[in-house]
Amino acid sequence: MSAIRYIFSVSLAWAVAISTVLFAQTVQAQADIRVSPTFAARGLPAGVLAPMTGKPVSAHAPFEAGECNLCHVNKDPKQPGPLIKPVTQLCMGCHEEFPSKLKLAHAHPPAQTACTNCHNPHNANYPKMLLQETGQLCTGCHKKIAEGLASASVPHKALTSGAKCLNCHNPHASEVESLLVQLPFDLCLSCHNVDTMVGADGKKLQNMKAWLDNNPDWHGPIKHKDCVACHQPHGGNQFRMLDGNYPKEFYAHYDPAAYDLCFTCHKEKAFSTAQTNKLTRFRNGEKNLHFVHLQQPGRGRTCRACHEVHASKQAKHIREGVPYGSGGWVLKLNYQKTSTGGSCAKTCHQERSYEHSKAP
Ligand code: HEC
Ligand code: HEC
Ligand code: HEC
Ligand code: HEC
Ligand code: HEC
Ligand code: HEC
Ligand code: HEC
Ligand code: HEC
Ligand code: HEC
Repeated sequence: MSAIRYIFSVSLAWAVAISTVLFAQTVQAQADIRVSPTFAARGLPAGVLAPMTGKPVSAHAPFEAGECNLCHVNKDPKQPGPLIKPVTQLCMGCHEEFPSKLKLAHAHPPAQTACTNCHNPHNANYPKMLLQETGQLCTGCHKKIAEGLASASVPHKALTSGAKCLNCHNPHASEVESLLVQLPFDLCLSCHNVDTMVGADGKKLQNMKAWLDNNPDWHGPIKHKDCVACHQPHGGNQFRMLDGNYPKEFYAHYDPAAYDLCFTCHKEKAFSTAQTNKLTRFRNGEKNLHFVHLQQPGRGRTCRACHEVHASKQAKHIREGVPYGSGGWVLKLNYQKTSTGGSCAKTCHQERSYEHSKAP
């Protein structure tokens, strides 16, 4: 197979000039390059590794020097012949930092097989001699990510602005899983640290870094620094790129499926059982107040009516207030936690308290 592909990929004159021994060696190098998917399946034309004519955007110093024989067997530019070594060895012969780079905990398979999966060795119409514009380069092989990107109703601008995929990934290798340039938590907060960010729905987004700095009681997964426990980093089809359903409204008719994000980690029974003496501490005696609030006909509250999901100042991630109406006014919850229960005052209702256990 690879021999056939090789014959089609070089000019006839050149193929004739090559000795059989060198021919076999180059076939080996060729075979290495063709990791799946093929260049054609990535939308790349035949001959994409040849020197570009016209005005390339970037060029390789050794090629510019005209010394074809640094990499090919001949110095003659008309007949440079096959390579002197398999391609990756060839590149690493000069790029001496790469052998140790590729030994980091996570190396990118196409960089291990052949540098020419992404770089033209001579020059190119893109910076760094890349075969394509970065986004296309990555999604040419990562078709699933491309499909997700095209169909996301809640896209993540991080993928389509600035350095695109390289905002978060290293193309060669990384100490961090998934070739990330930083630990995911630090990565997310490296952008989500401004007050000016606006979501896909046109609403202003919280400055998450400042919020976490100012609210010391962090939710379990945040304590584990795991933003992707709940969010899809590449965008998705749920509100706020969430991994599961979560209502975007303040009031919503109770349906367990609407909260499957929370219920992947918390037991749904604790919210749908009217009477209990153990499933939740938000109960008055045996009357489950989660049930009461969530399942109120016509005006069921969503979790956000009472809880912060990332971090809070108060215990149990109870929020201090909820924005009410479009004017930005905040309705205070005035929640007080006690050793046996708690109370809310002058809030959605008159002061009310609950006791989940008897005073000692
Ligand atoms: C830094 C190393 C390097 C230098 C210098 C270099 N080449 Fe190449 N060249 C390569 C590699 C790698 C390939 C890809 C071979 C393959 O397909 O495996 C290649 C392939 C080619 C091809 C065939 C492209 C194809 O479609 O398969 C031509 C033509 C070519 N080089 C011409 C030249 C000429 C002319 C020079 C000197 C002016 C030159 N090269 C200098 C590394 C180099
Ligand atoms: C003969 C030595 C030599 C070989 C072999 C070599 N390179 Fe280079 N490469 C260089 C030099 C010199 C530079 C310029 C260094 C600089 O700008 O700091 C360079 C720069 C680059 C750059 C950066 C270009 C830019 O615009 O910043 C890339 C990408 C690159 N090489 C890829 C490759 C690949 C892929 C191969 C194998 C096909 C390869 N190199 C083989 C010497 C080499
Ligand atoms: C999966 C695609 C891909 C493969 C495979 C790949 N590179 Fe790169 N390389 C890139 C991208 C993308 C950049 C640009 C990085 C940037 O702009 O931050 C780059 C940049 C570079 C640079 C410029 C300096 C730097 O580190 O940013 C060099 C040198 C380089 N690559 C060499 C290599 C060598 C040598 C190999 C093979 C061992 C290789 N590349 C394999 C995608 C790739
Ligand atoms: C020539 C094909 C090819 C190109 C181009 C390519 N990749 Fe990959 N990538 C692979 C293969 C093969 C794997 C390993 C199998 C898999 O996870 O799909 C991989 C794996 C990955 C992984 C997962 C690594 C892990 O440790 O789990 C990430 C992240 C990734 N690539 C990002 C990128 C980015 C960003 C780019 C663009 C700079 C890119 N890829 C370009 C083929 C490619
Ligand atoms: C905002 C940061 C960010 C950007 C931008 C980004 N990624 Fe990722 N990517 C991640 C994180 C975080 C993970 C790890 C997800 C996990 O562990 O569940 C990941 C995982 C991956 C994986 C391996 C797992 C999987 O989902 O298949 C691939 C492949 C990948 N990314 C490719 C890409 C490509 C291609 C692009 C550009 C179109 C891109 N990424 C842009 C953050 C990002
Ligand atoms: C390179 C910068 C950058 C990085 C890194 C980044 N984001 Fe974003 N994020 C943005 C921008 C810009 C927006 C707002 C614009 C948009 O996407 O519509 C955004 C929006 C969001 C939104 C709201 C989406 C909506 O429209 O409802 C969430 C949630 C989010 N990011 C989570 C994350 C998580 C989790 C990570 C880490 C895996 C992360 N971001 C990493 C830049 C970034
Ligand atoms: C336990 C699940 C969970 C984890 C973990 C999580 N989030 Fe969220 N995130 C949510 C939910 C739910 C929302 C929607 C909140 C709402 O609208 O009430 C959200 C909303 C957001 C928003 C939009 C905020 C706004 O103003 O509307 C951003 C940005 C965001 N998250 C970033 C992050 C970052 C960064 C991390 C990691 C530090 C993270 N999230 C971890 C569940 C989570
Ligand atoms: C990835 C798993 C995960 C998801 C998803 C998740 N949580 Fe949690 N949650 C935890 C962990 C772990 C704790 C800490 C439990 C502990 O400290 O005993 C916790 C604690 C809590 C607490 C405080 C309990 C206490 O005793 O301090 C509340 C309130 C809470 N979560 C609400 C939510 C809401 C609302 C959602 C949905 C938006 C949600 N959680 C989604 C894992 C999760
Ligand atoms: C009307 C306000 C309110 C609503 C709405 C609400 N909670 Fe709570 N929740 C509380 C209070 C108050 C506590 C603290 C109970 C205690 O420890 O005394 C609590 C405690 C919790 C706990 C800790 C374990 C327990 O039950 O004692 C979790 C987990 C939790 N809530 C998750 C959720 C989820 C998930 C939702 C949405 C499906 C939700 N809550 C909706 C007020 C509310």
